[in-house]
Amino acid sequence: MSSIAIRPIHRAVGFYEAPIGKKAVMAVTGLVLFGYVVAHLLGNLQIYSSDPTQINKYAAFLHNPANAIALLMARTFLLVCVGLHITASVQLWLQNRAARPIGYFKKDDVPASYAARTMIWSGPIVGAFVTFHVLHLTVGSVLPLHEVEGGAFLSPDVHYNVITGFQNPLVAGFYILAISLLCTHLYHGIWSMFQSVGVSHPRYTPLLKKFAALCAIVIALGNISIPVACLAGWLKV
Ligand code: HEM
Repeated sequence: MSSIAIRPIHRAVGFYEAPIGKKAVMAVTGLVLFGYVVAHLLGNLQIYSSDPTQINKYAAFLHNPANAIALLMARTFLLVCVGLHITASVQLWLQNRAARPIGYFKKDDVPASYAARTMIWSGPIVGAFVTFHVLHLTVGSVLPLHEVEGGAFLSPDVHYNVITGFQNPLVAGFYILAISLLCTHLYHGIWSMFQSVGVSHPRYTPLLKKFAALCAIVIALGNISIPVACLAGWLKV
């Protein structure tokens, strides 16, 4: 390979090695994952439709064999983003720790917010939640999944699975806790993303923080409303 071809690769590696490179990777992959969370919430809110089969029709569309390649590509892309997001965050944390090898007593003068301080463990808990969640509602190995005849192929009865799953207070409670943590993670993540891409100015900072908080609260309330509605008996099979 000529040195001209190698140079951009060196430049990209050099950029990634610096903290700003890892922050950029976290910002881009975080944005993709945020987009997934928003799209997934919009899909899930169909559980409130007056037609109980509405959410099942949506799931059947996603599981339609005609969409198998698109689904595989989307899942692979999301997994790659999750992998890059975690790798960059761990490397950044190690890099920051190595940059201040002597233990210090006094933290920054400005105290870090609760969301910022919990970033390093809200991430792994959200990871544990997603693993449990996929086993619960996609694979059906935690609580039995209900299958329905969906035309030419079998698809899960999402309406039944979600409502019966959340009638278990332990499961519903775990979801509520994990989603609350996800949203503190999102709040800090959205806010940090603006800083990483250079959208940070004393005049706009309060506005950006409010925007990040609004996104996190809307996502938390939308998601948490589902286990709450099932526990309260407002949603029935
Ligand atoms: C109460 C809130 C939620 C409900 C009711 C819900 C519901 C579901 C259901 C029914 C499925 C299976 C879909 C299917 O196989 O057809 C699913 C899959 C999934 N959910 Fe959720 N979800 C919720 C919150 C979340 C959150 C907050 C996240 C992300 C942090 C998330 C991430 C995922 C992922 C990654 C999958 C697997 C997607 C796939 O199979 O490709 N979910 N969810």
